[in-house]
Order: sequence, then C-alpha cells, then structure tokens
Amino acid sequence: MSGFDAVGAAYSAHSGSARGRLRHDLVERRLLAELPGRPARVLDVGCGNGEMTLRLAAAGHQVTGVDPSAAMLAAAADRLSARPDLAGHIELVDAGLERLPFDRERFDAVCCHGVLMYLDDPGLAVARLAGLVAPGGLLSVLAKNRRAIGVREALAGDYPSAHRLIVSETDRSTGNLGRETRGDAPEALDRLAAGHGLVPLPWQGVRIFHDHLDDTWAPEPAAYEAALEVEWEASWRSPYREMGHLVHALASRPERGRP
Ligand SMILES: C[S@@+](CC[C@H](N)C(=O)[O-])C[C@H]1O[C@@H](n2cnc3c(N)ncnc32)[C@H](O)[C@@H]1O
Repeated sequence: MSGFDAVGAAYSAHSGSARGRLRHDLVERRLLAELPGRPARVLDVGCGNGEMTLRLAAAGHQVTGVDPSAAMLAAAADRLSARPDLAGHIELVDAGLERLPFDRERFDAVCCHGVLMYLDDPGLAVARLAGLVAPGGLLSVLAKNRRAIGVREALAGDYPSAHRLIVSETDRSTGNLGRETRGDAPEALDRLAAGHGLVPLPWQGVRIFHDHLDDTWAPEPAAYEAALEVEWEASWRSPYREMGHLVHALASRPERGRP
C-alpha cells in the first residue's frame, strides 16, 4: 500500500475545497494557454484523483494519467465513470515516476503537479519527466516553493513554527496532508529543465494570498472569482510570486532543427 492510499479521501476533500480549486484553476488556465489548439498527447504523472487529467481531457486533449497509489487511481476511475463523454480521451495507468512505461519524447505535454515535494531527488524526477517531452512539447511542474517556507505558518498566526522554519532556512515543512514535504526554488527547477535541453518559460507563484486559509474557506462565487483574478495577476509579478506556496514551473523542448 502506497503512503497515498491512506490519505486519498483527505486529499480529495482538500482538492475540492475553494483553496484546492484555486490552484487547479490557476494551473489549468496557464496550461490551456500554453497547449496547442489541436488535441495534444498529455501525460499527467502522479495524477491523484484525476482532477487535471479530467480538466485537460474536457478541453479536448488525450490524457494519460499515471499514479502508483491504487486508491488514488480508483478515485480517478470513479470520477471518470461519471463522465462517459471523456472515456475516449483518458487512459489511467498504474505506475510511479520511477518506472514510466513510455517511449522517449512521446508526449506533447508532461505534467507533474504536487508530486516533487514528496520525492528526495528532484533532479532525477525532472530528468525522467523531461525525457518524455516531444520536440515542441511542454513540461509542467507544480512544486512546493522553497522560497516561501514559513509564510503559511506566519500568516496563520503559528509564530513558533514560522520562526523555526524561517531561521533554520530549511527546505521542508508540514504539508496539507500533515506530512513533511520538501520545497524547490523556482530557479532551481528552471536549471534542472534547462539541463535536459528544455527552455524555461516564465514561472508563476500559486496561492499567494489564500494559502494560510484552511479548507473551510468558502467564498461566494463572485468573491471566489475576484480572489482568483488577484492571484492570477500577482502570480507573474515580483515580489508577489516569490511568496506563493507553490511554484508552477514550465519549460518547452525546442522543435528539431531550432535552438
Ligand atoms: C498531492 S497528490 C497530487 C495529485 C494531483 N497531481 C493534483 O495535483 O491534484 C500527490 C500524488 O502523487 C502520487 N505519487 C507519490 N509518489 C509518486 C511517485 N514516485 N511517482 C508518481 N506519483 C507519485 C501520489 O500517489 C498522489 O496521488
């Protein structure tokens, strides 16, 4: 049983909260802006309960969702069974990042969202993901932002934890599921992608002003939309983006014959 089999329900609850939705909406908006207009072949590594897999399939793309957790994959399959219109657009595969059963440079986009923070070696992970990106394709990594460690705790009023995290300059803090997770600096993610022949695109900070709220935050629809727009505008701009709890780092593989 993978560590995620035990927390699947908790993750689904968080993912479906307004706070969880905020990050999915921000990441989806960027992806849809970067993906080609034609149906793209997308790989969603660590797809969890299939949130982005379903969203990208609903946008017309062909998506392969992979996850090593049987419970997470079952949750994704359950949600897919409620969307028969997407059945021809989605394939779910039981696999971890360490053994992805695909040919090199096979996908127009490779997504890996909310996974790197659970892995000790981001270099190895990015190497494996980058190798699957086709010429002209995209790598999309959503990681915990090392630069913002301690901000959530400080804004939530947990000053002893914030003090400890900030003073120690650690790369680890407690994540949404109560587990210790590891952060990556945006520039470090860009460097890793560039080391595999990809060209970094502008990175965004995700969940800057709403990360310290808990999953009971339930704004009215108009307030949610306003919050989303503020997050979107700030996500590109310094110094705001550096304070995002998550970093959305993207990079593209040049077409063959182009630098
Ligand atoms: C926090 S959830 C994120 C799910 C989804 N990508 C999202 O953004 O909502 C982390 C997921 O990573 C998966 N995971 C953990 N270790 C992994 C690994 N080594 N390779 C691929 N996925 C992994 C877990 O099973 C879990 O479904």
